Amino acid sequence: MASPAGVGAAVAGAAVVTLLSAALAFYGPPLDAVLKRAFSLHKAHSIKDMENTFQLVKNIIPPLTTKKHKGQDGRIGIVGGSQEYTGAPYFAAISALKVGADLSHVFCTREAAPVIKSYSPELIVHPVLDSPDAVHEVEKWLPRLHALVVGPGLGREEALLENVKGILEASKARAIPVVIDADGLWLIAQQPTLIQGYQKAVLTPNHVEFIRLSEAVLRDPVDSSDRRGAVLRLSQALGNVTVVQKGEQDVISDGEQVLECNLQGSNRRCGGQGDLLSGFLGVLVQWALHAGPEKTNGFSPLLVAAFGACSLTRQCNHQAFQKYGRSTTTSDMIAEIRPAFSRLFET
Ligand SMILES: *[C@@H]1O[C@H](CO)[C@@H](O)[C@H](O)[C@H]1NC(C)=O
Repeated sequence: MASPAGVGAAVAGAAVVTLLSAALAFYGPPLDAVLKRAFSLHKAHSIKDMENTFQLVKNIIPPLTTKKHKGQDGRIGIVGGSQEYTGAPYFAAISALKVGADLSHVFCTREAAPVIKSYSPELIVHPVLDSPDAVHEVEKWLPRLHALVVGPGLGREEALLENVKGILEASKARAIPVVIDADGLWLIAQQPTLIQGYQKAVLTPNHVEFIRLSEAVLRDPVDSSDRRGAVLRLSQALGNVTVVQKGEQDVISDGEQVLECNLQGSNRRCGGQGDLLSGFLGVLVQWALHAGPEKTNGFSPLLVAAFGACSLTRQCNHQAFQKYGRSTTTSDMIAEIRPAFSRLFET
């Protein structure tokens, strides 16, 4: 773990890219024009930074061609879903499909499985997470998966968390990228070594989860006046694991760079929004790693994937809010995935 002085120097030395808010209307001028107008009163380089970062996200999106076979654009596994929570894993899994994954698996408890299956015929649901054989049951599928999203609707039951530990170890051994959210982060706060130094991991803490993690890893109170520094410090202390702190702005760091995503969403924060983000990330992480560093212009692929997933979540929220206002729910956001994606990344 870096000393406090070393961390300070790293914060000062890091290339910090600030991205200012952009108001993106659903029906409106092309993205570039919207960005230019929104930024014209701000520092010129911010316009370029935002455009450049969007371009990097565009670079990693695999083209749809006839030459591909099913599964090539992403086979994603969601680890979560328990007796109490069945919505979160569904939202994450369906978001992965709607953003462009070919197959989406859910590994959940026995009781949660029929519920999740009944939400959607499009998901493959494995009722294995509370079985004594859970690690083996999931491990069998790992060679066929491109990324795992661990945590949506997981809960904190001891036996489940034990199984998830085993699944994380097995995924690391196969170098499978993992996105960790919700109670998956609770597990990491109990045992940071599970993820320490695994640079194919992305953590997506909200404010409370971020504080819990930071205090567990750095054993210091978090300096809430410096969010970018705090996210950078946590990422570095975990051995440059990518950290996405969700909030009014999303702050993203891979231990070297810090990106901010301020794209306008709305003031409506419905439960489930984080599940969309984690589902998107599972897919984008795979695309970015597959595209490789030449497509991301030297930036870490996971950083670009995280920026893309945060932007898309915010744009879905923005567009759903335009239609439904205070009635906006996560399902409304899911219905906006296609137009939001197209608006941000296909113009
Ligand atoms: C993390 O990234 C920083 C900045 O690039 C670098 O100085 C440090 O050595 C990296 N740490 C690890 C564990 O790779």
